[in-house]
Amino acid sequence: MSDQEPPAGTRPEGTQGETEAARAVRAMFSAIAPRYDLLNRLLSFSFDQSWRRRTARLLAPRLAAPASRALDLCCGTADLALALSHVSAGSVAGVDFAHPMLVHAAAKVAAEQRKVLLAEADALRLPFADGCFDVVAAAFGFRNLANYQQGLREIHRVLKPGGEVGILEFTLPEEGFFAALYRFYFRRLLPAIGRVVSGVRGPYSYLPASVEKFPGCDEFNRWLEAVGFGSVTYERWTGGAVALHRGCKV
Ligand SMILES: C[S@@+](CC[C@H](N)C(=O)[O-])C[C@H]1O[C@@H](n2cnc3c(N)ncnc32)[C@H](O)[C@@H]1O
Repeated sequence: MSDQEPPAGTRPEGTQGETEAARAVRAMFSAIAPRYDLLNRLLSFSFDQSWRRRTARLLAPRLAAPASRALDLCCGTADLALALSHVSAGSVAGVDFAHPMLVHAAAKVAAEQRKVLLAEADALRLPFADGCFDVVAAAFGFRNLANYQQGLREIHRVLKPGGEVGILEFTLPEEGFFAALYRFYFRRLLPAIGRVVSGVRGPYSYLPASVEKFPGCDEFNRWLEAVGFGSVTYERWTGGAVALHRGCKV
């Protein structure tokens, strides 16, 4: 495999092939949905919402027109969709394939009185026409796709020419004391806390395992370029714990 060619996709422990992997991912997120937001705040020391808000602010220039459309891919409980709805003059949609996550998302959208259209759909087969979004964004979702190449193709397909993708993902800080401390936290403490609070064994061990298997930032940028995005950049935040990748459909 060349480094331009993405590996197949996520493969949670014990799964083989795309269908099994997708089924395991959906089951995992369905199981942790009731405690998902609480664990996000707890395990990220509440940084997670500021990462999503920052992502939304950086994508906001493309959402200034009332006719603009943004999509939160793998929206989970809709935190990024909600952040986008605060910076957009147009419409915001969110899709996810785990029904229980969408139930929580819908309750939050209603409680916050925001307009976000939620749909239960597979990010690998999006129920949208070609070229209909100005922005497609994803927060901590892309890494969980069972077919990365197809995921990128779908994002590219549903974006308008000139539209922008923004993919926020975990990364591993590279060197120094903070990197060592962070790795200890991420590999050892986080899975244990996640298991106790969610009451479910697998998902919070899957998190560090899937981040370690995901490509580095430079390689991921090359994947974006290979599928047809231009002006591809990334920036790392919070000591390199997360990175936002951006690119434009040319
Ligand atoms: C780590 S959560 C991220 C949720 C949310 N974006 C956030 O910021 O917290 C990953 C989400 O991706 C969803 N997901 C994974 N593969 C998917 C697919 N093929 N289609 C739709 N959703 C998918 C899961 O159901 C889960 O809700």
